[in-house]
Amino acid sequence: MNLTTIINRQSPPTPWQTGEKIPWNEPAFSQRMLENHLSQEHDWASRRYKIIDQHIAWISQQLPNKQSKILDLGCGPGFYTQRLAKLGYQCTAVDFSPASIEYAKQQAIQDNLNINYLLADIRNYQPTDRFDLIMMTFGEFNVFKETDIKALLNNITQYLTPNGYLLIEAHTYQAILTYGQQTASWQSYKTGLFLDSPHICLEEHFWNEQQTTATTRYYIIDTVNNQTIEYGSSMKAYTDLAYQRLFQEAGMISINKLTHTQWPTGDIFTEKLQTFICQK
Ligand SMILES: C[S@@+](CC[C@H](N)C(=O)[O-])C[C@H]1O[C@@H](n2cnc3c(N)ncnc32)[C@H](O)[C@@H]1O
Repeated sequence: MNLTTIINRQSPPTPWQTGEKIPWNEPAFSQRMLENHLSQEHDWASRRYKIIDQHIAWISQQLPNKQSKILDLGCGPGFYTQRLAKLGYQCTAVDFSPASIEYAKQQAIQDNLNINYLLADIRNYQPTDRFDLIMMTFGEFNVFKETDIKALLNNITQYLTPNGYLLIEAHTYQAILTYGQQTASWQSYKTGLFLDSPHICLEEHFWNEQQTTATTRYYIIDTVNNQTIEYGSSMKAYTDLAYQRLFQEAGMISINKLTHTQWPTGDIFTEKLQTFICQK
């Protein structure tokens, strides 16, 4: 792309228009992302193991039958399912990142665990099983368009056992609003998430009040090949009432929020992420 299009742009970008998401499913990108998932220096692709272990403790308290079936949607490198399968749970996990799924499969083989890992887009996934817990953690919920998330919720709630739980960790409205109102910034990298060669990343944020959506545009200036690549990502903000409606419309009757003691989010996500536990 030509950078002057930024200067000549007439109106802010439409949410979800340029690239629905950052390219999680692109092989080289997913390999670089995997390194971030695995890092124990920061919490931004997956939380550090210390926090994940606390989540596992809560799940295992909630599901005393250690044969229970668990489905993790957007499982990344399988940090949750690896731990849950070790406790005896029967786990299925879906992600469209090739590097993450490959890593997760290798970890399962290494520990002799029978985990059903699937490389697929969760929007198209049709399980043949029924699950006692279906989970989607770490805020990925908001990165889907509202129409997609409604269809996904309607679909997956069909796959819950009668007393099964739906666990959704999603962003607060305020977190997404603040994100969308951030000022533009830039950074230079010798190597980074979007490119493994030297580049500059320009980042612009927009808040669309009508759609209650934050959109980020990343312009990756590849200084080696003298070209610019544009990526986009949008996040839909829901009020607590809107979350309640979404879960109710998908057939959930009991909808509760977990406390930070039950499901800690990690320091940098306090007040930014919240966790719902629902039952039909
Ligand atoms: C923020 S990461 C969280 C990973 C994991 N849940 C954790 O907490 O460690 C979000 C994950 O969702 C996956 N993802 C995003 N959109 C997806 C889609 N449409 N289908 C499948 N996986 C998706 C990404 O590849 C990524 O691994």
